[in-house]
Amino acid sequence: MIPAKTVQEILDAVRIEEVIGDFVSLRKRGVNLLGLCPFHNEKTPSFNVSPTRNIFKCFGCGKGGDAISFLKEHESFSYPDALRWLARKYNIEIEEIERSPEQMAEQQAADSLYIVNDFALQHFQEQLFDTDEGKSVALSYFKQRGLRESTIRHFGLGYAPDQRDLLLRRAKTTGHSVDLLKKTGLCSQDATRDFFRGRVMFAIHNLSGKVAAFAGRTMSSDKTIPKYVNSPETEIYVKNKTLYGAFQAKKSIRQLDECILVEGYMDVISLYQAGIENVVASSGTSLTEGQLQLIKRNTSNLKILYDGDPAGIKAALRGLDLALEQDLNVRIALLPDGEDPDSYVQKVGSEAFKSYVDQESKDFILFKTHVLLEETKGDPIKKAGLVRDIVASIARIPDPIKRSVYLRECAGLLEVSEEALVGESNKMITTAVRKKQEKDARTPGAASDSSDNAQLPYAPVTEKSHPEKLQKRPSSGDTPQENQIIRVLLLHGTQKLPEGNTVAEYVLTGLEEALNSFDDPISGSIAKEIYDHFSATGEVLHNSHFLNHGNPDVQNLTLALMSEADEYSPNWDEKGYPLQNQPKPEFNFPKESIDSLDYFTMRKLKKMCEIHNPNRIKAAFEAGDIEEGTRCLKIQMKLKDSYNMLAKKHNIVTLP
Ligand code: UTP
Ligand code: MN
Repeated sequence: MIPAKTVQEILDAVRIEEVIGDFVSLRKRGVNLLGLCPFHNEKTPSFNVSPTRNIFKCFGCGKGGDAISFLKEHESFSYPDALRWLARKYNIEIEEIERSPEQMAEQQAADSLYIVNDFALQHFQEQLFDTDEGKSVALSYFKQRGLRESTIRHFGLGYAPDQRDLLLRRAKTTGHSVDLLKKTGLCSQDATRDFFRGRVMFAIHNLSGKVAAFAGRTMSSDKTIPKYVNSPETEIYVKNKTLYGAFQAKKSIRQLDECILVEGYMDVISLYQAGIENVVASSGTSLTEGQLQLIKRNTSNLKILYDGDPAGIKAALRGLDLALEQDLNVRIALLPDGEDPDSYVQKVGSEAFKSYVDQESKDFILFKTHVLLEETKGDPIKKAGLVRDIVASIARIPDPIKRSVYLRECAGLLEVSEEALVGESNKMITTAVRKKQEKDARTPGAASDSSDNAQLPYAPVTEKSHPEKLQKRPSSGDTPQENQIIRVLLLHGTQKLPEGNTVAEYVLTGLEEALNSFDDPISGSIAKEIYDHFSATGEVLHNSHFLNHGNPDVQNLTLALMSEADEYSPNWDEKGYPLQNQPKPEFNFPKESIDSLDYFTMRKLKKMCEIHNPNRIKAAFEAGDIEEGTRCLKIQMKLKDSYNMLAKKHNIVTLP
C-alpha cells in the first residue's frame, strides 16, 4: 500500500501533458494540447489534454480522466500500479505500507508474467556478462557484430547457454514459479527443458519498457536450424501489436516526427547505436493494422528501409496499402544490393547512411508505380492489371486532395488519361464504402469514425457514449448551483483564499447545513465524501479520487465539470451564476468560489423561505403549537435577512 501522503505528493507532481506525451504525440492548440486518440481509431485529432486542469478528454470516443485514468486505460495498470509508475517518472520515493496476503496475491497475479520475464532477462544477462562461456561465446559474438557494451545493455541482450534446463533449475532455486515459466513459454510444457538454448537473446519490450517476450538467435550458420525463435504469444505479448524497438524509439520518433521501419532486430540495434534512434522493426512479418496504429499515434511519417530481392519487395508493397488507409505518408528506400540496414550502417557510418536514405527514399505510390512499370514493359495486358493495382492503392488514401494529386501524377507515369484513373478510383471507393456499410450493418456499434463516413449516404449507427453531453444533463431545481459548488471544490479546493483559509474550508463550512438537501444526488454524494474526508483528516480529497471513482456516474460528472469550458456561459447571469467580464476563472478562483457558495446558499435559503419554513409555520399553528410557530416565524425573518443580504451583494431582487 502506498501511504496517503505519498499519493498526494505524486498527484501534485503529475503534469498530465508529460505523462500522456510519453504515449501520444501532442501538439499545442491554444492553452490545450491536441493529438490522435489512442483509444479509438481516428484520423483527425479529437483527443484533448488540458494542462491547467490536469485532465484529458476525447471528444470522439468520450474517454477522459486524469493521468491515472489514462495509465489504467492505456497500459492496463491497476490504480496502485499507475501511482507507482508516476512515482518512478517523477522520482518520488514510495515507502510502501505492508500489504495483506490477499493484496500480495492479487499484485503477484497481475505482474507475474512480467516478473518472470524480468527474472529471465537477468539470468540471460548474467550468463552473457558474468560467465566465462558467455563472455567468450556470446559477448564476443555481439562485439564482433559491432555492438558496444552500452548498446548491449540498453537493449537487454543476453545469452542462453546450450544446456537442457539451466533456467528451469535457476527458477526453482530462486523460488520462481515453474507454471509461470511455462506460461511465458520460457520452458517446455512438461517443464523439463528450457525453450531458449544455445542462443544469443533479445528482450522484446512493451511500450512502457517492461519485458514482454524474448527472441533468441542461433550463433551457428547451419541453415537447417531456425535463425530466430520467439516467445509464444501471451497476455502480455501480442505480436501484431508489437513493434520491436518501439520503447527505445518512441521519444525520437516524436521529436523527429518520423518513424523508420526495418525488418530485423539487429537492424534496429545497429541504427540506434549509430545515432539513428527513431527505428522500429516489424520482425520479419508484414505490417499489421495494430502496428500501423502504434506508429500513427506517434507520427504520420513512415520511412521503410528495404533490403532484398525485387520479388520480396513486390510482396511487401502489397501489404502497404494498409498504411495508406491510416493516412500515413509512406516513403521507401531500397538499400544497395546485399546490404541490410545493420550491415550498411556498420559499413559506411551514420552520416553516409543518413544521406543515402535521404537521397534514395521515394514516395511509396510513385515507387510502387516505378517498380511495377519496370516489369510490364511492352505487355498491355499486364499493364492494365498494374494500373488497377496502383489505383487500388491510391483509393485507400482518405484525404481526397492527396488522392487527386497522386492520380494526376500516376496518370503521367502510366501514360493513361487522368479521367480514366479518377473514374476507376471512384468506382473502387464506392465499392469499398458499400462493403463497409454491409459490414457495419452486421456488427452494430463497430462502425469506425474514419473520414470515409463522410461519403456514406447515411450516417452509420454508433453506440458511443458521449460524456460531454453530461454537461447538458436535464437539470432540476438547484442542480446547476450544486454542480458549480462541486466544480469549485474539485478545481480549487486546496487553493488559499486571501483570508488565509482554503477554498475547501470556506465552502465546506458554508455547505454543512445543506449537505442533505442536494437536488442532484451525484453532486450530493461527492459533496458528502469531500466533507466527511475533510472532517476526518483535514485534507481535501483530490479530484483524482473522483475521476477514478468506483461509481461511473461520479466519474462522469467529475470529468464533465472539470472539463467545462473556461469562459462563463452568457446566460449564467440569469441562471444565478457569477457575473461576466471577470478575469479567467483560473486566476479568479477566490471570487468564483465565494460567488458559487453565495448562489448555492441563496437557492437553499430561498427554498427554505418559500417552501419548507412556511410549511412548518403552518403546521405548527394548525396543531396549536404557538411556541413552535413563533420560533419558526423568527427563523423566517433570519432566513429572509440572510437571503437579502446576499441578494443585495449580487444586485439581485430581494425578498419582500
Ligand atoms: P533476417 O534474416 O533479415 O535477420 O530476418 P536479421 O535481422 O538481419 O538478423 P541477422 O543480422 O542475421 O542477425 C529479419 C527478421 O525476421 C525475423 C526476425 O525478427 C529477424 O530480425 N526472423 C527471421 C524470424 O523471426 N525468424 C527467423 O528464422 C528469421
Ligand atoms: Mn542482418
